[in-house]
Amino acid sequence: MNSSASSQTWSQRFESALHPAIAAFNASIGFDIELIEFDLTGSQAHAMMLAHTGIISAAEGEQLVAGLEQIRQEYREGKFQPGIEAEDVHFAVERRLTELVGDVGKKLHTARSRNDQVGTDTRLYLRAQISQIRRQLLDFQAVLLRLAEQHIETLIPGYTHLQRAQPLSLAHHLLAYVEMTQRDWQRLGEIYQRVNTSPLGCGALAGTTFPIDRHYSAQLLQFESVYANSLDGVSDRDFAIEFLCAASLIMVHLSRLSEEVILWASEEFGFVTLKDSCSTGSSIMPQKKNPDVPELVRGKTGRVFGHLQALLVLMKGLPLAYNKDLQEDKEALFDSVKTVQGCLEAMTILLNEGLEFRTQRLNQAVTEDFSNATDVADYLAAKGVPFREAYNLVGKVVKTSLAAGKLLKDLTLDEWQTLHPAFEADIYEAITPRQVVAARNSFGGTGFEQVQKALATAKQRWSAANQTSVQSQH
Ligand code: ARG
Repeated sequence: MNSSASSQTWSQRFESALHPAIAAFNASIGFDIELIEFDLTGSQAHAMMLAHTGIISAAEGEQLVAGLEQIRQEYREGKFQPGIEAEDVHFAVERRLTELVGDVGKKLHTARSRNDQVGTDTRLYLRAQISQIRRQLLDFQAVLLRLAEQHIETLIPGYTHLQRAQPLSLAHHLLAYVEMTQRDWQRLGEIYQRVNTSPLGCGALAGTTFPIDRHYSAQLLQFESVYANSLDGVSDRDFAIEFLCAASLIMVHLSRLSEEVILWASEEFGFVTLKDSCSTGSSIMPQKKNPDVPELVRGKTGRVFGHLQALLVLMKGLPLAYNKDLQEDKEALFDSVKTVQGCLEAMTILLNEGLEFRTQRLNQAVTEDFSNATDVADYLAAKGVPFREAYNLVGKVVKTSLAAGKLLKDLTLDEWQTLHPAFEADIYEAITPRQVVAARNSFGGTGFEQVQKALATAKQRWSAANQTSVQSQH
């Protein structure tokens, strides 16, 4: 390692080289290399702005842009692999540029600091990642919508407190996750607007003495706006925290679905069968087939929450403006992005081809419980019995039926009428699971008619979102 190179990076003020362990401790190249393509693009825009404003000549600007492009090629071909002597991706690029284009390379950093540079890179990076995650959310929804379409008529027990509550259309259950991920998609779109602000030209903290044009470089990078205050521009990480909030909520949603799939795949529930392509066996128990994918998703959720917490704590005590603490934002962000992207991909595959709903068993499950009890009370209430009175009466019936080992459908008409004279023969039809579901025809409810409508709306919304996501690809 050439540690004397590190001391030369800063200025002649330094007389001796960094201690090798401190150089390694200080270096971020091990992880911020992830930003390289965005660093190159940001630097190209900066060079063009310098030429545009006459701070450097047009020819110099072109040389810088071409040199940066050559580094991009080298990197893509695996030929540019800077080590820790470079400290970080920004220095690594600048050094290589000077090797490639000579002294003009040393002009790149005119009117710029690594502080506004790293902020620019991080925003460009996050912008691209947000677009990808939004795309993935739509792909995930597409699978849910296809499954919902297939399972409008499939019934599944609905739970509160994990106790059988009322039966549902399976499509209604699946569409709940479409709604959650729709909010995720929307939220990321709103956050994107704030990520899409340029700090380039804020300098180290106070702006610059050069006649730069921040709007020009921002426009080249397709930023929608520029930071109005240089101190805020170089030290703001709100956009990263907002992203981590949104990422955490995506993980909450994936983790809840994961938990359900894990339960559903158990012998006790038996609502889904896991396919071999998405489950693994045990090294000792030959009968086992484990739901590794949803378990990993559930497990990885904590990492993203942790990164959100880390960034909040990172920021809370920082005096203005840049502090080296901010270098710690990157691994939190990169790992969260990778985790969310990986989990979305895995869950999409799992739903698409990794599991099968056991429709017969599901339809059967809802006939074996008291989840039609509310409907008996509703039946009486519809005939004018005050609901609370009806509710109490049905509670009594459930108690005596349980004791007799019977279900509500097994009561004779005589028994019903002894309970209350308002019962008639149509009570049997009213409490079949299918009718219980169909009857919940209030807006947003599980009634088949509502579910059909909700599905149609969700499909339309998906198509519109798909259109904007295709258009907004950077
Ligand atoms: N690697 C640094 C970071 O990620 C770049 C900015 C360094 N700025 C500074 N003033 N030391 O934060």
